[in-house]
This record gives sequence, C-alpha cells and structure tokens, in this order.
Amino acid sequence: MQLIHSVQALRDALSAHADIAFVPTMGNLHAGHLHLVALAKQHASCVVVSIFVNPLQFGANEDLANYPRTLEADCEKLQQLGVNYVFVPTVSEVYPDFDGVNLHQTMTIQPPPIANVLCGATRPGHFMGVATVVLKLFNMVQPQVAVFGKKDFQQLHIIQALVRQFNLPLTIVAGETMRESSNLAMSSRNGYLSFAEKTQATQLIRALKEVEEKALQGQHDYVSLEQAATQQLTQQGWQVDYVAIRSAQTLLPAMPQDTQLVVLGAAKLGKTRLIDNIEFCAKPLK
Ligand code: PAF
Repeated sequence: MQLIHSVQALRDALSAHADIAFVPTMGNLHAGHLHLVALAKQHASCVVVSIFVNPLQFGANEDLANYPRTLEADCEKLQQLGVNYVFVPTVSEVYPDFDGVNLHQTMTIQPPPIANVLCGATRPGHFMGVATVVLKLFNMVQPQVAVFGKKDFQQLHIIQALVRQFNLPLTIVAGETMRESSNLAMSSRNGYLSFAEKTQATQLIRALKEVEEKALQGQHDYVSLEQAATQQLTQQGWQVDYVAIRSAQTLLPAMPQDTQLVVLGAAKLGKTRLIDNIEFCAKPLK
C-alpha cells in the first residue's frame, strides 16, 4: 500500500492501472468505511481510498479543527484490507486558490434545491462543499467506480445527481449501513457519545422502524407519522432536526401513491448529531 499526498504522484501511480474503484473518506475509519472498501475491491483490481477532512463542508459553528484525525490507525486498517493507494492530499492541493484564511476564490458546485432540505436545512452550504470536493476527487483519481454509504442517504442522492447531470464517466455503488449489535448505525460521531448516550442512541433507529411499520400497515398520513416520531424522540430527550418520509428516488416528500420510500431522521443527543434512515417498499394507495 502506498501513501500519496500530491495529485501528480497519484496520477503517476494510477497510470499503470486500468480499473480503479475509489472510496472517498474523511478518515477516522470504522467498520462502516471498511465495508465500503471491501465493496470497492469487488469492483476493481486497484482500490484508492482518500482521506481528506474537507473544510468546505463544515459550517462556521461546526468543529473542523477538532475533527478526529487518525491517519496512522486508518492506514493500518486499509493495509490489512489490501488497499493499493491511500490518497491524503493537503488543503492547498485540493483548493489551490485557498489563501490560508478563506476559500472565497474557490470555484464550487451549486447543488439543486434538494440539498437545502433535510440535513441541508440546518447545515447550509454543506452539500455544496461535499459536491465540490467529490467532483475534485473524482477528477484527481478518475475511477470507474466510486463507493458511498447509504447511511448518508441525502449525500448519496446528491452525488448520484452530480454524476448523472455532469455526465461523469463512472458508476456509483451504494454500500449498506453497517450497524453495531445494538442496531446503532456505525458513524465517526458515535465516538462522541458517552456510555449512557450510546445505549440511548438506538432510540433513533427504533423510532424510524416504528414509522416504517406503521406505513407498511397502511397508514398513509405521513405527516402525522413524522410528527409522532418527532414527539416521541423529543420526549426521550432528543433535539430533533427532522423525521421525514420521502420518495427514495427523488427525496421529495412521499406521496400516498409512492412505493419506494425512505424514512430519514436527524437528531441531537446531548451535543452529538446523529442521522439514520430505512428504505422500504410501501403499498400504493389505490
Ligand atoms: O461522507 C464523507 O465522509 C464525506 O462527506 C466525503 C464524501 C468523503 C466528502 O468529503
């Protein structure tokens, strides 16, 4: 496994490979990331993993400086999985016009309005930052396949739109959410939870599961289901951003005729914001 920091060195190394699968990450790798890497290995003989904590996707009130940076441990895990290249670019390599203070001269992607709802409503500019860095990384790595997790369902949706709308010559592969035995979705943010919070954190997926079950039983008043789940989590001590039943294809609010659905939730437990979702097939209202 080779650790690479510059785009030029990456291009030189990758010129020898015909099929490349790519997993972009921000590091602090857990079993969920490693599952995506294993998936990437099924799609190409050369696997590139990037580790880049992208300043453009952090809001002013989000803690970019304290984001966990665990390069050595991450590289050990990737080495064990047989990853070929770990690409760890500097901020100036990714954002050449960054002056060290602000990113004002940086060209960015403006995602469609779907990026401004759900997580985008409380994290303005977040998906602009994600789409911009992902396009840059795609240009640098030029993979045939890129793997993203379904846990970040809205991110996956926006990246699929980026690839489709900008005619990018690659296929997006979606990896299932990896879960602890308690059913808690694996996330870098779980590391911020206290012992007691980690037990309580499973309430989020349980609330989403109840929504799914009620929808499957034929309840089509989705707004009421969302409100009931929000109320339940609030009573349990969560600060809820949203519980939303959406079309899994468009991410627009689900209509009673829609069959491919996803229920998504985002809520804060103490200081930690967690997200999760469940995809399901509902019977359409006749
Ligand atoms: O999901 C993430 O870790 C990040 O949003 C990504 C896709 C690596 C872009 O920085």
